[in-house]
Order: sequence, then C-alpha cells, then structure tokens
Amino acid sequence: PILYVKRKQNEPPIVPYWIPFIGSAITMGLDPIKFYRKYQQEYGNYFTFILLGRRMVTCLGTEGNNFVFNAKLADASAEAAYKSLTVPVFGKGVVYDVHNSVLMEQKKFVKSGLSNENLRAYVPMIEMETKNYFSRWDKKSDIQDVHKAAAELIIMTASKCLLGDEVRSKLDESFAQIFHDLDGGFKPVNFLFDDLPLPSNKLRDQAHVKMRNFFMDIMKDRREKGITDRTDIMQYLTTNCQYKSGKKLSDEESAHIMIAMLMAGQHTSSTTTAWALLYLAARPTLFNELRQEQIDILGSLHEPLTFDAIKKLTLHDNVVRETLRLRPPILNIIRKVLRDLPIPGTQYVVPKDSYIQSVLAVSHRSEGYFESAETFNPNRWIDFDQNNKERDDDLVDYGFGVLHRASAKSPFLPFGAGRHRCIGEPFAYVQIKTIIAVFVRMFDLALHENTFPECDFTSMIVQPKSSLVQYTKRDN
Ligand code: HEM
Repeated sequence: PILYVKRKQNEPPIVPYWIPFIGSAITMGLDPIKFYRKYQQEYGNYFTFILLGRRMVTCLGTEGNNFVFNAKLADASAEAAYKSLTVPVFGKGVVYDVHNSVLMEQKKFVKSGLSNENLRAYVPMIEMETKNYFSRWDKKSDIQDVHKAAAELIIMTASKCLLGDEVRSKLDESFAQIFHDLDGGFKPVNFLFDDLPLPSNKLRDQAHVKMRNFFMDIMKDRREKGITDRTDIMQYLTTNCQYKSGKKLSDEESAHIMIAMLMAGQHTSSTTTAWALLYLAARPTLFNELRQEQIDILGSLHEPLTFDAIKKLTLHDNVVRETLRLRPPILNIIRKVLRDLPIPGTQYVVPKDSYIQSVLAVSHRSEGYFESAETFNPNRWIDFDQNNKERDDDLVDYGFGVLHRASAKSPFLPFGAGRHRCIGEPFAYVQIKTIIAVFVRMFDLALHENTFPECDFTSMIVQPKSSLVQYTKRDN
C-alpha cells in the first residue's frame, strides 16, 4: 500500500492504501474494530484513513472521544456529516435540517415528553405487548430468532408508547410496509453520497410522505375529536411545545420529529435487546439470578412490573449496560470539520473539510479502561461505580433514578455526550429492561449450536450475524 494523497502540514498520519479514492474502505469495512486497533498501535490515538475520497480522522481513547463530542459548533458539525443520510428520512425543519439551536429546543420538547410520569405509564404497556408477543413461542422448546423478535417487539412497544395507539393498531398492515421502505433509505451509502438515484431511495421518499401524512391525519383526527388524555409523544408535541421565539411546533414538524424518534430508537434498541438475550443465552445461570432479583424486589414472578420496580432491578440494568459496553450499536460518531482544527495535547491539526470520528467500541473494549475487557461481566458495574465515586461530578441522573456517566471523558459512552447526547436513554432502558424482565419469567435460553455470533458491520448499526437461540418454556 502507498499514499495517493499528500499529507498536509501537521495532519494526523494517514493510513496507506491500495486503490486511489476507495482508500481503506474495504479493509476497514471487513472488521472495523480490528482496523482501528491495528492503527492505534501503530500511530496512537489519532490517525487519518481515506474513505471514498474523504479524510476520516479517527480519534480514540477518552481524549479522542472528548475531542469529537465536545467540539465547538464553529469547528465541527454533526448536521454537515449526517444531513444526506437523515434529512430525506426524517424530513424538513427538524434535527439536522435546522440550526443546532433549533435542534436543542426540539430535543428538549422530546425529553420533557419522556417524563417519569409517562415512563410510568409505559411499563405496563411494554409488559403486555411482550407477553402477547412471546405467547407465540408456544412449544415446550424450539429454535427461534431473537433479533427478529426484538425488532418486531421494539417497533410494537415504541409505537404503542411513543407514537400512539392509532399507529400501533396499523402495525400489522400498512404501517409496517411504510416503515420498511423508509428504513431502506437509512443506509451507509446515503451517508457517503447525496441523493443517489437508487430505487430504494425512491421508495424511501414515497414512504416519508406517506408516514408524515399518516401522523398528521391522526393529529387532525384527535383535534377534531377533542382527544387530550394520551401519554404518547404525539400528544405532548401537538399540545405543549412552543419555541422560545413564541412559534408553535407545526404538525409537520411534530410528524418529522416522530419519524426521527422512531428511526433513532428502532435499530439501536432492538440490536441491544438481541445482543443482551444472546449474552444471556451464553450464560444460562444468569437467568436464575435475574428471576431471583425480581422475586427480591417484587415478592414473586407473578406481580405486575412497575416503573418503580424496574428502576430497582440493578442486575437487569447491569446486563443492559454491559451489553452496551461490548456492543454499542452506533459504531462511529462523526462530525465534519469546518475550519482547520488543532487537536489539544498534540502537534496535529485536522484540515478543514475532513471528518473526525469517535469509535466508542474501541474505548469500551480496551484493557486500559476495563479489566478483562472482552468478557461479558455485568457485575463489573458495581465495582466501576464504587471505584469512580470520586468522580461523582461526572454522574448525571437523567430522570430515571440511575446515575449515568455523562462526561465525554468517560471510557463508556454508548449514548454519546455533549450537545448531541441521546435523549432516548431513559426510554431505551425502560423498554429493554421490561422486555428482558418479562422474557426471563417466560423462558430459559441457550445458544443455537453453542456458538456466539460474530458482528455484522455492513449496516448502520452493529448487528449479530446470526441470532438463533434454543428456548425452553418455563412452567408458571
Ligand atoms: C443521539 C445512542 C435510543 C433519540 C444518540 C447518540 C448516540 C445514541 C450514541 C449520539 C449521536 C452523535 O453524537 O452523533 C443510542 C442508543 C440507544 C438509543 C445506544 C438505545 C439503546 C434512542 C431512542 C431515541 C433516541 C429510543 C428516541 C426516543 C436520539 C436523539 C439523539 C440521539 C433525538 C440526538 C441527536 C443529536 O442531537 O444530534 N443516540 N440511542 N435514541 N438519540 Fe439515541
């Protein structure tokens, strides 16, 4: 391999490559973690690789994460990086189609809509949906696909809780197809190229219009019928939200925000649920421990789950956290650099128009931060929190009772940090923990053919290559 581009003065080192323009796309794409680790050893925490003509400056370690997540607005932009992928899917006037200050207001609307009071109402809904869903696994023992199940269940529960009953009731019919077509446009190629004339993009554009109209028709219908007693986000967005300027959120913006939430939560939460169940399948003794935790908190496995009980299920929480450590669904967090940008503590300067990216899985799986980093060990979080008490200023309660490390200097950042940090975390935890809690009441699990699946890095989200499990129904 050689360098086909000239390294600019003080630019971080560039990984040599075989094919002009294509750059390291193929070697990186085959196994990104291996690729990043290899060049981290060779060059340190900052290096550039070429990806289809773009300069991608990879920033690793806690300092690298901090550099990306806390970059100033004038220096680096998320919208410039994500626009071509997201605007056709989410729609105009929201998220990366607006100035960052507007996005901040829109995130606040959603965050207020995901109040503890609403989350409290969601737990029984998720419990019911999960029980109903898994009643289909009605044999004593069989092989099933947990990723497929998780994806179906996450869209059902997210629709029911966030989008509303009307959307949930259409899931088996028209809405599922619209979602499928829209989702087809949410793929890496659209991050790399603007407006490609692909058949899947045509379907995406048609699906966007259908979904927006579908949401707006429900809003109109609710208004005409005077419906105001719902706990979903549609209710919140259409009644309570006003920008600081005094302008109210339009129905179109509300619909686009709902699409953005659906897309942001669907694959992230469903792959996390699938990976968590696969890790559990590889450690059958954890099933008894999880059941015992529920008995300790609730008295028996027959008590209905409540928000307060879910909050207290620490082992369930640590299973989700540990899954997010080893398999953070979003691999690369990317910003486009708007002007030459020095990297603090180094002699490097990132040239304007390059991209900087943080790769969470590298710090999450680094021995420097986590002992036996490749081992799934939910109990490490007990020690992790105790050992890090002196850094309490890093811990933030996002309204869910569980303290999460929020500083961009933490080695564990599955929900990001800084101004673009996820606002879906409390909902995701409630949703995934409730699903797992119901699941362990109903089943025991083992890996199919005793094999833990490898990662598939080809889509936007890191998925298991295979997700078959052997379930055994429990006698209740
Ligand atoms: C942002 C992860 C679920 C809505 C983010 C970011 C990460 C993330 C890493 C930061 C992106 C960046 O800095 O470029 C996750 C994970 C989830 C999850 C791991 C589940 C396990 C959800 C859910 C929702 C949601 C359920 C909606 C209800 C958002 C929004 C942003 C965001 C609105 C802000 C984007 C921005 O400000 O640029 N998420 N997310 N996420 N997420 Fe999530």
